[in-house]
Amino acid sequence: MEIQEIVIEDLDTKSFIEEKATEISTMVSDGLAINALSGGVDSSAVTMLAHKALGNRLKTYFIENGLMREGEPERIVYLFKELGVPVEILDAKREFFDALKGLTDPEEKREAITRVFYKDVFGDLVKKSKAKYLLQGTNYTDVEETVAGIKRQHNILEQLGIDTQEQYGYKVIEPLIQLRKSGIRKVAKDLELPKEIYSRPPFPGPALATRVIGEVTPERVEIVRKATTIVEEELSNTGAFQYLAILHQDRVTGIRAGKRDYGLQIEVRCWESKDARTGSPTRLPYDTLDKLAERITTEVPGVVSVTYNITNKPPSTIEAI
Ligand code: XMP
Repeated sequence: MEIQEIVIEDLDTKSFIEEKATEISTMVSDGLAINALSGGVDSSAVTMLAHKALGNRLKTYFIENGLMREGEPERIVYLFKELGVPVEILDAKREFFDALKGLTDPEEKREAITRVFYKDVFGDLVKKSKAKYLLQGTNYTDVEETVAGIKRQHNILEQLGIDTQEQYGYKVIEPLIQLRKSGIRKVAKDLELPKEIYSRPPFPGPALATRVIGEVTPERVEIVRKATTIVEEELSNTGAFQYLAILHQDRVTGIRAGKRDYGLQIEVRCWESKDARTGSPTRLPYDTLDKLAERITTEVPGVVSVTYNITNKPPSTIEAI
């Protein structure tokens, strides 16, 4: 891999920000750039960096792909409005669900999401806005895992031999590609983003689709969304690196109101990790696990079984697909 990692000990955030802002403004020159903000620390840092570099030559979108968490689009748009950065919500739910229809293979699902993001949604935006650049928050771990063939991270293009200029009509700028998550958090803090953003647990670009095993339909996403809200409420005070709910494809026999209920299974994961490269399950107190099981089986329709993942990464990965 040609990209040179900047390890956190060598990262001087002030000069990094200055350098990257200059690079972005030189590349875009007097043209226009677009970027998609999901509210994760990576895309938030890129949004602020590019806003600093380009001002109104940057147009930021929140792509509503139907795969985000409860209330997320509105919350993120509000937070950035407070910071003086206008963000437009673009409703692309239909495009994403149409592309995911019938797919069950993890890499096929990831490919479909990449295609809709880059070819359909951004391709269209670029045509309409005449922007020549797309800015995005690809980080060093994303590249490393994709190149190693572990997972095709949704935002990796060039390293897979995709020429975005030729295929989609725009160039991609990735100012954070030399940093890992911990470095990006430092940069985000120095860009004066609020703590809610710079200390946010990571959330993947393909969003809740990485947590639905089997077909990703609006109904199945809604189930995992409800379980996610509960997991985040119950585990946000653990200080863990990341915590999530996964909807399984297999059903299991349960009992409800004294009758057989062939219901759904939710798996909870909670990770200790520094940079997502490796991880271990948090040793959650049994009372917390009990509460999770109780809430998920009563508040999420159709769920009769809740499990907790006790596997390290590797051999597990953090997300399920
Ligand atoms: P895995 O599941 O590969 O996840 O162990 C490592 C870290 O990356 C996040 N993740 C993604 N982030 N696009 C992203 O922006 C993706 O396609 C993607 N897949 C996984 C995951 O949440 C974890 O923090």
